[in-house]
Amino acid sequence: MLIHPIHRMARMIKTADVDKILQKHHNDKTALISILQDIQAKNRWLPQEILEYVSEKLKIPLIDVYSTVTFYKSFSLTPRGKHIVTVCLGTACHVRGSPKILDELKNQLDINVGETTPDENFTLQTVRCLGVCALGPLMTIDDEYYGQVTTKIIPSILKKYKKRVQESDS
Ligand code: FES
Repeated sequence: MLIHPIHRMARMIKTADVDKILQKHHNDKTALISILQDIQAKNRWLPQEILEYVSEKLKIPLIDVYSTVTFYKSFSLTPRGKHIVTVCLGTACHVRGSPKILDELKNQLDINVGETTPDENFTLQTVRCLGVCALGPLMTIDDEYYGQVTTKIIPSILKKYKKRVQESDS
């Protein structure tokens, strides 16, 4: 598998930290899903090298590790940002202007859907319905919902999360 150049620069968990997670699960191969969840919780994504390491340590064929990772949508094989920005493109949000919201976010963040900003602060994704259609157009950042979003308000929403990163980095 080829590794995209940006992946080489992306956040990478240390093998010592992977060892701690493996020990927590007693190197039990039946705990593979929990182990991968713990690694992703710490690293935000699952790099190829780490999957190879887990495969070797647990003596599980690499193909079986990949089958598990690709089966569950919550696992990511590409770098994920600290904040996940999700725009609803379901019918109700679409007719209320969510494509414009998405375009504005692409411009502001300078990335496309499925991509992560180079500073690993934001990942942009879309969804088909978030279940609160009356609030459309709707976007979320992590667990926070923003209803009836306008393109004008987007910079101030994003600013909140940029500030949080600066605070948590200091
Ligand atoms: S269509 Fe957007 S929340 Fe349902």
